[in-house]
Amino acid sequence: MLKRMYFKRTRSNNRFNRYFYFVNIIFTFIVLISLVIKVASAVKREDFKTCADSSFCQRNRVYADKVSSNSSFISPYNLIENSINIKDGVLSGEIINIENNVHFILELNLLTTDSARIRINEKYPLKPRYEEVQNFALVNEPSNTLIYTVLPSKDGLTSISFGNEGKQKVIVYHSPFRVEFLFNDVPVVTLNDRGFFNFEHLRKKGDSSSFVDQSNVENNVNLNKNKDEDNNNDKNDDGDKEEEEEKGLWEETFNGKLDSKPNGPESIGLDISFPGFSHVYGIPEHASTLSLKETRGGSEGAYTEPYRLYNLDVFEYELDNPMALYGSIPFMMAHRKGASAAILWLNAAETWIDITKNKEDKHGLSGFLNFGKSTTTTNTHWVSESGIIDIFIFLGPTTSDIHYQYGLLTGFTTMPQYFAISYHQCRWNYLNQDDVLEVDEGFDKYDIPYDVIWLDIEHTDNKKYLTWDNAKFPDPIKMQNNIALKGRKMVTIVDPHLKRDDDFILYKEALDLDLFIKGSDGQVYDAWCWPGSSSWPDFTNPKACEWWSKKFTLDQYNGSTESLFIWNDMNEPAVFSGPEITFPKDIIQHDGWEHRDSHNIYGLSYHAATFSGLMNRKNPPHRPFILSRSFFAGSQRYGAIWTGDNMAKWDHLAASLPMLLTIGISGLPFSGADVGGFFGNPEPELLVRWYQAGAFQPFFRAHAHIDTKRREPWIAGSPYTRYIRDAVRERYALLPLWYTLFYETSITGKPIIRPMFEVYPDEEEGFAIEDQYFVGDSLLVKPVVNQGQTSIEVYLSGDELYYDYYNFQRIQGSNKVIKVDAPLNKIPVFIHGGSIISRRQRIRRSSAGMRLDPFTLLVALNKKGEAKGTLYLDDGETYEFEKGNYVYRQFIFTSGKLTSKSLSSDNSNLYSQTISSVLRVERIIIIGLDKKPSKIFAYNNSNPSLKQELEFKFGGIGTTINSFTTPSSKDVLVIKNPKLFITEDWTVQF
Ligand SMILES: *[C@@H]1O[C@H](CO)[C@@H](O)[C@H](O)[C@H]1NC(C)=O
Ligand SMILES: *[C@@H]1O[C@H](CO)[C@@H](O)[C@H](O)[C@H]1NC(C)=O
Repeated sequence: MLKRMYFKRTRSNNRFNRYFYFVNIIFTFIVLISLVIKVASAVKREDFKTCADSSFCQRNRVYADKVSSNSSFISPYNLIENSINIKDGVLSGEIINIENNVHFILELNLLTTDSARIRINEKYPLKPRYEEVQNFALVNEPSNTLIYTVLPSKDGLTSISFGNEGKQKVIVYHSPFRVEFLFNDVPVVTLNDRGFFNFEHLRKKGDSSSFVDQSNVENNVNLNKNKDEDNNNDKNDDGDKEEEEEKGLWEETFNGKLDSKPNGPESIGLDISFPGFSHVYGIPEHASTLSLKETRGGSEGAYTEPYRLYNLDVFEYELDNPMALYGSIPFMMAHRKGASAAILWLNAAETWIDITKNKEDKHGLSGFLNFGKSTTTTNTHWVSESGIIDIFIFLGPTTSDIHYQYGLLTGFTTMPQYFAISYHQCRWNYLNQDDVLEVDEGFDKYDIPYDVIWLDIEHTDNKKYLTWDNAKFPDPIKMQNNIALKGRKMVTIVDPHLKRDDDFILYKEALDLDLFIKGSDGQVYDAWCWPGSSSWPDFTNPKACEWWSKKFTLDQYNGSTESLFIWNDMNEPAVFSGPEITFPKDIIQHDGWEHRDSHNIYGLSYHAATFSGLMNRKNPPHRPFILSRSFFAGSQRYGAIWTGDNMAKWDHLAASLPMLLTIGISGLPFSGADVGGFFGNPEPELLVRWYQAGAFQPFFRAHAHIDTKRREPWIAGSPYTRYIRDAVRERYALLPLWYTLFYETSITGKPIIRPMFEVYPDEEEGFAIEDQYFVGDSLLVKPVVNQGQTSIEVYLSGDELYYDYYNFQRIQGSNKVIKVDAPLNKIPVFIHGGSIISRRQRIRRSSAGMRLDPFTLLVALNKKGEAKGTLYLDDGETYEFEKGNYVYRQFIFTSGKLTSKSLSSDNSNLYSQTISSVLRVERIIIIGLDKKPSKIFAYNNSNPSLKQELEFKFGGIGTTINSFTTPSSKDVLVIKNPKLFITEDWTVQF
């Protein structure tokens, strides 16, 4: 929730730093004005850096150009042969840059998870370089494998095979230094293949031993040459460029704001290639495509700027753009038929990634490669401003393997409470207690379920978080208890900027305990955000985290109850008066590190500290729920994220699909986009379509800017309200499926909503499809994202059956596009043949009321007449499930039998006991049967002789199956009340 609208006006009217004293008054005034004035509807691009504005990005691009345009170029980095040592799964050695004699330490770890890690740091740095990012992103130090074989040495290279089946191999070439990772002897990831490796060693100002200085003249020549060739958009002209570059080494200025750069140049750059792969994915967050675009030259629609990773609060972001947004996950996955590989570039400084695709194979690899038709290689070039080279390489070979390998490293998604995956109602702002209760009652009146109502910044006493505006919210506890009676929750916003006000206890304590981030002058950093003059606790300081984590107990957070949860916004962090609306890079954090080194983990560190806060609220703890806007690799351990301040426009609805798919495959599946769009007023049709999409996405929350018209679901009126209700109710009917998928991702790392290539990895036609996706692998969803659209084309992967979600009509897949009706009351959804889905048909006020309701099992047969599915259940609140107190069932339909068996080792655990005589199957629906069975029997597996005959109907069913329609398809079989219990092993025989 960026409320930059206010700020934008303010900034254009004055320069914060100069008119500081007046700002308070002006600010209030602006707030009033901005409620009236309409805002220009585009990002202010000039607020944010291009590669040319960021001297290290420019230097490395220039270096890459110099290298690529020189056919006799040889990378100056050599691995010193007699320094190589291989022991306990680690290859270590020393690299020398022969141009300037700088020495580096190389460490290559072969890991137990069929992955590897490569670190390169200076051997004698002037001062330590930042490596702390691993303490935030990783769950623990990954262990080295002892299963590996050093292959007979050859001149100039060292090769080692490793991995649990010995199918992984790494070849390290010594001079020049280059690394190749192979799977089944086919290279899948290569490092420094193109020679862009460039490690700017720390130096003293005036020390000219750097090639950067020496090559300035050549750079200019090459840059301009390349401009023509590659259609580059580099801004600089020759004229003062040399001088400018020199200047960029030790300080640089952007939009009048100086970055003092006391350490000078310290960037790292490396090319990483994926030979034989024409698609790469990942590196969120960008409003870009699922299959990432080229950024230097390339086909139509390619970008001219690299993808940027630098957490920023971007006002009304532009679509189809590689500009940085709120979060960063430096994870990239390559996939092709038969192989997948991925990397994590573990660095929290500003990072840029260039992508190009190469149709020829310059190393002549194609001779022994099995690429099929495709010989495209995707080349990437990664550049970070500081830190060390630290890369994890995941060798798959499947995407599921990669998700698991990545999850073991950075952690799996934290298991949410049941309510958190239900529907959330948010707005900036619900005005007061009466407003909250009225909205709450509105949902009951219109028979729309919801679980959580949210309060934005206006609920606080003058933007002092963890306080209440007593005039608007005189009795917050009573308010929360009122909604809690219906099983509902509340979320309040808590941002990281603390109002500089001595009467504000949190500020005073953090000041006295010295927990704030310091400016480059050593004084507590003081800048502008919602409350006006603010300071930011340093969550990279363990003391600050510990202090913060004590602020959420019921006796500390006044006016809070156990049904209150938290929203962490503005944690990139957003700083209205800062460069690019965030912290200056040269401010000082814990242990004297510059903010520059750790920028992209500020949001994660804050999210993590708040998570500890909610863990401390109760003993034993209940599962926290915290929504964060900013994120990094590892954020999945702390809660959900959303895609920030989108707009109420059709193209923003469309853009949310590739954005969420990308974030999901990058290890953070619990994500969503503001339903309805944050800025602007959606027309009722758009609002309906957005609810329909949101109902089939992991985090489902409506949200709106303070200047927008009210848009609670009943305001749109007939027929829109009914359609919105249907969509929300469908979410509630499917909560058992969603909850099961959350459990499964919490142990496998697999995304919850999956692009086509995750489910059909060999089907190249699907590799770039981004406007439809699978929920788990049982539902295929194609949201309507265009105005006035009443029919839609859907691509059906695989030689498989699908069923219309509404009338259960059978559709044959076979990689073809079909056109289906999509009137406004219908979400194009298809049941994937071969799935068994658990539903709850009785929709109540909130998910809590449905927890003991019976299930309907929907069995959709595949073309072999088989199906399977899982169902996970637990208490939905506590961590008892970690002690085995859960129910995890598998349903299988095969050879005319439907069976239920337990997937948990202890089927009679405490939770299971509490529900065993309560939770039953009230209905079984089988679709795709060829003929009517003559009889159906059911028996408990512990007593097969005690068969009972079941009643059923076949064809022309008069039962309403989902929230919308009655199936008309003839081959539907419904067994009513089979008297089967969820926790028992049983068989239904046809
Ligand atoms: C090309 O690279 C070679 C070897 O690295 C170097 O000696 C030569 O000066 C470079 N030529 C140009 C024009 O940069
Ligand atoms: C909570 O309220 C009590 C009583 O008014 C007050 O003493 C205490 O400082 C408050 N706590 C916070 C964190 O504001």
